[in-house]
Amino acid sequence: MTDRTHTIGVIRGDGTGPEVVGEGLKVLDAVRDFAVTLVDFDLGADRYLRTGDVLPDEELARIAEMDAVFLGAVGDPRVKPGILERELLLKIRFQLDQWVNLRPVVRYPGVATLVPSHTEDDVNFVVVRENSEGLYSGAGGFHRKGTAHEVAVQESINTRHGVERIVRYAFELAASPARRGKLTLVHKTNVLTFAGDLYQRVVDECAAEFSGVETDYVHVDAACIYFLDSPGRFDVIVTDNMFGDIITDLGAMIQGGMGIAAGGNINPDGVSMFEPIGGTAPSETGKGTINPLAAIGAMEMLLRQLGEDEAAAKVDRGIRAATARMKSMRAGEMGFTTSQVGDLVVEGATA
Ligand code: IPM
Ligand code: MN
Repeated sequence: MTDRTHTIGVIRGDGTGPEVVGEGLKVLDAVRDFAVTLVDFDLGADRYLRTGDVLPDEELARIAEMDAVFLGAVGDPRVKPGILERELLLKIRFQLDQWVNLRPVVRYPGVATLVPSHTEDDVNFVVVRENSEGLYSGAGGFHRKGTAHEVAVQESINTRHGVERIVRYAFELAASPARRGKLTLVHKTNVLTFAGDLYQRVVDECAAEFSGVETDYVHVDAACIYFLDSPGRFDVIVTDNMFGDIITDLGAMIQGGMGIAAGGNINPDGVSMFEPIGGTAPSETGKGTINPLAAIGAMEMLLRQLGEDEAAAKVDRGIRAATARMKSMRAGEMGFTTSQVGDLVVEGATA
């Protein structure tokens, strides 16, 4: 052990969240050569139903003191949609200004996906989703609610500052040795002529600065076609919050399923939070059938963010060892239980 210590906040959350977080922490313990202090936060549906609290200010202030946060999933059929999502998950993303949502789309060797013709070289890109504004800003409201003349307005807020920082982040990533030097803007500039125009202008400006990066533009609907038809055209995608949300679910399916898709909510100068991008899977809860690899992949990203590249590389090896032995990435079809998959990762990571 070195004298490095990281303080990691843990939000197990709802549904299958606690199960997959447990496996992520198991893997963390197996690969680390540094000390960790885990700080558990009791947040999610149970706490809300028990006490009415979603995310009290004191808790948010404590989360802001962590080195990183590991999150399971939030959302529960017993709670009206929007409460936990907006007041817990989105509140953390916004209040901690985690303005990058980084979502790698990687098809691990041997993983069966919905598109059998894909190879692992075809599916290897990363979506840089804007995570602090757009349609998620919460701007809008009702007028004459509940009447025949009701008006519901939901506005997409796109600031020069917000667009510029996410596009620049994506260019820097595309230019880094880890990537292949291509950046694609995904938007809907033919219809969203204000927001899309701002994104395109910022991309054009940055392109002049990053001469080593090839730039491309794809409409979001066409991007859905290309994800299935020719995913190899993508290296780094930059897109807004809503489009990024939608296309990364499709991205997960060409990785093998939601069970393997990980993401990070990143504040490059602050506290970042890592999570499996799928939901709480209420129908799988408590059965030991859920795939923990997305959470374990999120742990890998968390380790990279902490600068623990060696431990992260071990987790990556472990994930690859596990996928090579699993029948499927889908819940209940893995050929192993949740905890056995965690064990496979540990075995591969420490071999
Ligand atoms: C995601 C989720 C969230 C989002 C929900 C739960 C608010 O779908 O992380 O992709 O829309 O961002
Ligand atoms: Mn989503």
